[in-house]
Amino acid sequence: MNNHLSAAQQAIVETCANFVRKELEQGEKGHDWWHIERVRRNACQIAATESADLFVVELAALLHDIADSKFHDGDEEIGPERATRFLNSLKVEPSVTEHVAAIIRNISFKGGNQVSDFTSAELQVVQDADRLDAMGAIGIARAFHYGGFKNRLLYDPAVLPNLKMTKEEYKRSDAPTINHFYEKLLLLKDRMNTPTGKALAGQRHLFMEQFLAEFEREWQGG
Ligand code: ADP
Ligand code: NI
Repeated sequence: MNNHLSAAQQAIVETCANFVRKELEQGEKGHDWWHIERVRRNACQIAATESADLFVVELAALLHDIADSKFHDGDEEIGPERATRFLNSLKVEPSVTEHVAAIIRNISFKGGNQVSDFTSAELQVVQDADRLDAMGAIGIARAFHYGGFKNRLLYDPAVLPNLKMTKEEYKRSDAPTINHFYEKLLLLKDRMNTPTGKALAGQRHLFMEQFLAEFEREWQGG
């Protein structure tokens, strides 16, 4: 298993990082270059305790949000396609490029209970890394940032969380941001794939629970 990168692979990873940094410069700031850096760092940390190909992990972490379907009229192929075109331009082996595209296609939690037939150790690592960045203090910041970007309410006690949304309902939902914790963020802990991912998720989950308890207390005037 490829646990460290050759000089040639390192050069490709750096070229890829520069490409992604430029591409995301103008993007929505919950999915900005810093998100990519954090996911890459989480992914490398998790990969260190997994039997995963680090070259695939790093490229997939860097490219996983290169074109989010949310910002492209729901087109879910645009991300994998853009990544493939870029990696082809660098003459990356087709097997690596195909693997990275499959990871990008399968990484996202889109609500609903979709099943996919693709899995790999590398997908599991990058997916855990991405999920971690939606949890904890950073996850809270990103959720309220995203809610603000969509002009959503912080909270509305009359709008109850909906745990049975289809993929389409989840995409179209304009529920208050607090609901997103119950509909997605608090569910992530039990969806982690790797032992390291699970361990890191525990602390972040606890912090979100403490935040929600304090939010509720203050809402009541406590
Ligand atoms: P993924 O990384 O699985 O594609 P998303 O793109 O859906 O996840 O989410 C990216 C970030 O935006 C996450 O931090 C997530 O919590 C936040 N986010 C997504 N949908 C909502 C929502 N409805 N309300 C608040 N935050 C959201
Ligand atoms: Ni992401």
